[in-house]
Amino acid sequence: MSRPLRFAANWKMHLGPDEARAYFKTFRTRYRPREQCEVWFFPPAVSLEAAAQAARDRADLVVGAQDIHWEPKGAFTGAVSGPLVAQAGAKATLVGHSERRHVFGETDADTRKKVGAALAAGLAPVLCVGETLAEREGGQTLAVVHRQLAGALRGLEGGKLAQITIAYEPVWAIGTGRNATPQDAAGVHREIRAWLAARGVGERARVLYGGSVNLKNITELLAEPELDGVLVGGASLDPASWAELVHSGAA
Ligand code: 13P
Repeated sequence: MSRPLRFAANWKMHLGPDEARAYFKTFRTRYRPREQCEVWFFPPAVSLEAAAQAARDRADLVVGAQDIHWEPKGAFTGAVSGPLVAQAGAKATLVGHSERRHVFGETDADTRKKVGAALAAGLAPVLCVGETLAEREGGQTLAVVHRQLAGALRGLEGGKLAQITIAYEPVWAIGTGRNATPQDAAGVHREIRAWLAARGVGERARVLYGGSVNLKNITELLAEPELDGVLVGGASLDPASWAELVHSGAA
């Protein structure tokens, strides 16, 4: 039997509700469910409900938000909260994606509040961590990843920590066509697992890799057993080729 794998599609600021419905129509005709294989979708907030409806009869298809505010409700114009996205059908949320950190100035303290808000709303948090090119070249990769893990997860004990998926997404690999090698990614994944294990996560934690994953490199990446799956931006936007990527990775 194959190992459990999770394929996560981050649509970023693409695909409105009509496009989301059309996407799922195509995806569902091209993708046949595979044992031990989950496919997660992170559409923009306006398309959450359409996506969740389109996936609702399939336990292996999960829809989540790209970001949430840490408060459940209130005067926060333009923001969406955990309870609001849950009402729209989300079962998960990304937290601390590199674009939130580097384009919108999100801090480790913000990610910590968002992880707490996600758990409180019953959403599975997918915490994104990763170093910039300058940090990598300065030998800071592990220090940065440890700081981001501690910043977001400090104070959570084993049971709660075990609910967190980590996505290692080196910033220099996102949208650049330059993916981390499977060996480089594996080294960081091992450190992430060790960090979680030292804090009482007994079972093997879920760690995904993200950054320029595509049809050409998916097989090589997932041949590395340290990768429990992938978080994919650009190569997830076309439903037919995304279905093909999932099939290739799960093969
Ligand atoms: P790309 O796959 O487009 O490099 O994006 C990765 C990413 O940021 C997924 O969250």
